[in-house]
Amino acid sequence: MTVQPNDTLLEVKDLQTHFFMAEGVAKAVDSTTFSIGRGKVLGVVGESGCGKSVTARSIMRMVRPPGHTVDGEILYSRAAETGQTTSVDLLQLPATGAEMRSIRGGEISMIFQEPRASLSPVHRIGDQITENILLHQPVTPSEAELIAIDMLQQVHIPLAEQRMGAFAHQLSGGMCQRVMIAMALSCHPNLLIADEPTTALDVTTEAQILELMQGLQAELDMAIMFITHDLGVVADMADEVAVMYLGKIVERGAAADIFRDPKHPYTIALLESLPRMDQKRDWLQTIRGVVPDPYSTLNGCPFHPRCADSMPGVCDEIVPQPISLEDGREVRCLLYTEHATQESPQLAEETSHQ
Ligand SMILES: Nc1ncnc2c1ncn2[C@@H]1O[C@H](COP(=O)(O)OP(=O)(O)O)[C@@H](O)[C@H]1O
Ligand SMILES: [Mg+2]
Repeated sequence: MTVQPNDTLLEVKDLQTHFFMAEGVAKAVDSTTFSIGRGKVLGVVGESGCGKSVTARSIMRMVRPPGHTVDGEILYSRAAETGQTTSVDLLQLPATGAEMRSIRGGEISMIFQEPRASLSPVHRIGDQITENILLHQPVTPSEAELIAIDMLQQVHIPLAEQRMGAFAHQLSGGMCQRVMIAMALSCHPNLLIADEPTTALDVTTEAQILELMQGLQAELDMAIMFITHDLGVVADMADEVAVMYLGKIVERGAAADIFRDPKHPYTIALLESLPRMDQKRDWLQTIRGVVPDPYSTLNGCPFHPRCADSMPGVCDEIVPQPISLEDGREVRCLLYTEHATQESPQLAEETSHQ
């Protein structure tokens, strides 16, 4: 199930966001390419530190120094008044200019990983939501207030009207998360970027929030970029999946295909590390080794030191490029190239059908 070009809402091409530190350059996002279809859910998964949040912040044009987006394109398909859509490269817009401000928080909005840190400590939550609505919608302050209360009710905040006067520190972590979601959804965005939106929540609240997001996604035909390290959630929600490792997407494709038949050894390891109902916890597999430090310059495939199928003389020397497989799948792995011929006849045979 690949997205047809005219259904594409956002197309990220060769995005590179680097952090320029005294220790060296950390390539947090390094040649990342993916797209999100209108109304579709893209799950972005990978271990901590692989560049998920920096990718999201790059799209929002909210990367702060010493981080800089140094290359790439972020093509956003924007509806014009004529009813036509035009493609805007967000990286060509001034980050604080009028056009980007009207897109950010209105057409593309984000739920941040740390809800409490993302809400202002000195403004009442009602004022924060109302201000965002006034910025993006042609309504009066009293209409904006009504929309804000309605959104708080939709995210199941009890006594929503009274809670408009609360400050973030007076609310629990779960409540702050719901407020962030209400704020992000208050302008009916075309794309919601949800960065580990339920990590800080207990399982009951998590289930409620996910259900709410799915409901609103269907109702508003909103696309979601859902960032998480929880593959179980992705299996439930996502149409497509992008697996990130050290700033690169190592595999992407339809969620059903990736869960049924993962191709990249990293994806396979991630799926094996999922706890299963039918296995004792002792059997839980973990991915061997740790993510290398971001300043290290590894030769070859960045995953090779941890890869069970690494081919000596190949994977430690050649940098894998994205390879298109059947079913619209893309994988960055030398096992699916001619280099694998001697090492893995089965894989080579599979690849020769492409
Ligand atoms: N403020 C920062 N200063 C320096 N390096 C950063 C900063 N934020 C992120 N990075 C670098 O970017 C990498 C990816 O970070 P991030 O996108 O937050 O990972 P995650 O996948 O856990 O969301 C980190 O491993 C780090 O090297
Ligand atoms: Mg993150």
